[in-house]
Amino acid sequence: MAQNRSISERCPIPRREVARTGEDRRPILSRRGARLTGLALSLTLVLGWGWIAAAAVLPAVGLQGQATPACTSETRPTPSQTQGPFYKTGSPLRTVLAEPNIAGTKLILTGYVLSRGDCKAVAGAWLDFWQADDRGDYDNAGYQLRGHQFADSAGIYYLETVVPGVYPGRTRHIHVKVRAPNGPTLTTQIYFPGEPRNQDDGLFNQALLANVRNDAAGRVATFNFIVKKH
Ligand SMILES: [Fe+2]
Repeated sequence: MAQNRSISERCPIPRREVARTGEDRRPILSRRGARLTGLALSLTLVLGWGWIAAAAVLPAVGLQGQATPACTSETRPTPSQTQGPFYKTGSPLRTVLAEPNIAGTKLILTGYVLSRGDCKAVAGAWLDFWQADDRGDYDNAGYQLRGHQFADSAGIYYLETVVPGVYPGRTRHIHVKVRAPNGPTLTTQIYFPGEPRNQDDGLFNQALLANVRNDAAGRVATFNFIVKKH
């Protein structure tokens, strides 16, 4: 795997330009969003954190039918971020990026795609994920840890992957592009709480922190995207 880590991705945005307002410090995730996390965790406990079992049950039972998170006309859209140098078009359609025997801590990332203003579920939203592997390397020759999917009728997306590794200049993060069926493309990155490098990464944004629960066998992270529909 190539390791073309350019300066442009390390610090393309000066620290002073990173929004750090009080509102930004409050992630979009709401109490209902937190409940979504709690439900996922309860399921994992019941299932003994069986990875495959959880993967099968979470989207089918755990998230389907859940009320969408609180969202108002004042809720700010998810901040955009640079895509960096490692994005590739043509990723495979899949929700499971964690291929057999891949190294790393297993991670479920899930949540809602909601529309800005009316806070409705964005059914069919396109999401394209890409990330570094456990060692901090991107697969630039192929499509390891790259994949796109479409949110379901409730606006829910669901991803099985591994916790991305860190690499020089960057804290732990997952890249994603999100687009409502007739909307503009949001390019952004998802971050993890409690990471030592968060404060040293010029791109890090509190508003892009996922809610993460650590477990002995992996992690469950939730993040809701607020996007424009037109
Ligand atoms: Fe990156």
